[in-house]
Amino acid sequence: MTFGYCLGAPLARLESHLVLEQLLERFPELRLAPGCHRDPAPGRVMVRRPARLDVVL
Ligand code: HEM
Repeated sequence: MTFGYCLGAPLARLESHLVLEQLLERFPELRLAPGCHRDPAPGRVMVRRPARLDVVL
């Protein structure tokens, strides 16, 4: 995420922080799956996201 001129950046960062904190608390071994490719999902202009994100719990 880059945020650029995003007015919601502080809120979005806080939310991501909380989500990642709780996710790692629940799944401390969480890792990206070996060979996982973060290819962008098509059809989005302002919001980037990977088409899929394989993980190992
Ligand atoms: C008036 C309110 C808002 C304005 C004007 C605004 C504007 C923008 C702009 C212009 C970008 C593109 C930045 C760039 O890539 O150069 C952006 C990205 C983003 N904004 Fe906001 N934003 C607002 C509120 C929010 C809120 C409330 C959230 C979440 C809580 C949010 C989450 C994001 C995220 C996650 C991105 C990054 C998307 C990406 O890089 O894929 N924004 N915003």
